[in-house]
Amino acid sequence: MKTATANRRKVAVVGAGAVGSTFCYALAQSGLADEIALIDRNENLAKGQVLDLVHGQPYFPTVSIYPGNPSDYADAQVIVVTAGAHQAPGETRLQLLHKNAGIVGDVAADAVDQKSPAVMVVVSNPVDVMTHVALRRTGWDRGRVIGSGTVLDSSRLRHFLSTHCGIDVHNVHGYVLGEHGDSEFVAWSMTNVAGVQIDSYCPMCGSCTDWARERNDIERKVRDSAYHVIDYKGATYFAVGLALVRTTGAILRAENSVLTVSVMLDGEFGLRDVCLSVPCVVSARGAQKIIEAPLPAGELAALYASADILKRAAEHTAPSLLGE
Ligand SMILES: NC(=O)c1ccc[n+]([C@@H]2O[C@H](COP(=O)([O-])OP(=O)(O)OC[C@H]3O[C@@H](n4cnc5c(N)ncnc54)[C@H](O)[C@@H]3O)[C@@H](O)[C@H]2O)c1
Repeated sequence: MKTATANRRKVAVVGAGAVGSTFCYALAQSGLADEIALIDRNENLAKGQVLDLVHGQPYFPTVSIYPGNPSDYADAQVIVVTAGAHQAPGETRLQLLHKNAGIVGDVAADAVDQKSPAVMVVVSNPVDVMTHVALRRTGWDRGRVIGSGTVLDSSRLRHFLSTHCGIDVHNVHGYVLGEHGDSEFVAWSMTNVAGVQIDSYCPMCGSCTDWARERNDIERKVRDSAYHVIDYKGATYFAVGLALVRTTGAILRAENSVLTVSVMLDGEFGLRDVCLSVPCVVSARGAQKIIEAPLPAGELAALYASADILKRAAEHTAPSLLGE
């Protein structure tokens, strides 16, 4: 049921497939949204997902969920774009580029037509290039168009470190930066257990005898996570759905949360004209501040390598898709 919308926390979700519907399911349970409009070019899919969700309404906080259309962008606080194809087994995120750039560009153009006040969170892969496409097509302030980026990868890192160290995941903090993809890297300089930098914590931990090797293994497992899940079950959607609740919640509640969303750089870290993940303060207007962490030379080099790959990928995107 659609209801009056004044001052309501409304999220428009584009794409009712695995990621979009899982996100809606998690968002509904979180109580963070008053309204969720679920939009898909396959209208029957959107209707079916909505029915399945609303049948569970007695078991989650009050929220209005309905099949939507682009007019819902007009009063949404957040537009989450999950529309597009997902990675087929063996397919890299960059190979998805051309399929998804047209779709994301059209959503961005519709949001402009609707004079949307929203922050746009792009999820479709390759997410960094899609964020670039959406930013150019909207012409909005750069902080208002963000990618889900490595929020998911950072939670995967925390999971693996928590398991390795035998410490509650909530006491383990770490950030994956750069591309959401093969060139991403762990910012070990920013990784800590209960505030103790990970390399200093290591001798206290006693979980392993060769931390340098374990570190590499953990980083590889984080980077290959999506491939493993896709090999087993065809797609990833639970963890990304939760990462999206975290990011959307930071916007809806003006939390000033530090999240590694993908954002257009404009001189930060010596980079510009590329979208990639760095620690950002996320609040009501999107990525409101970029935290220029003093990365050591090796991590900075990894960031630059990621930026090079993403710049080349963006160059392969037709200028019309980038709104140029
Ligand atoms: N950034 C991340 O961390 C992350 C994680 C997982 C998946 N993804 C990406 O999210 C996207 C969606 O994945 P999925 O598993 O949900 O795919 P899916 O195929 O299950 O769903 C995609 C949906 O998009 C819809 N769609 C296509 N074009 C559309 C349009 N123009 N307007 C509205 N809807 C449209 C399709 O009908 C389909 O229902 C993929 O690009 C995938 O690679 C990103």
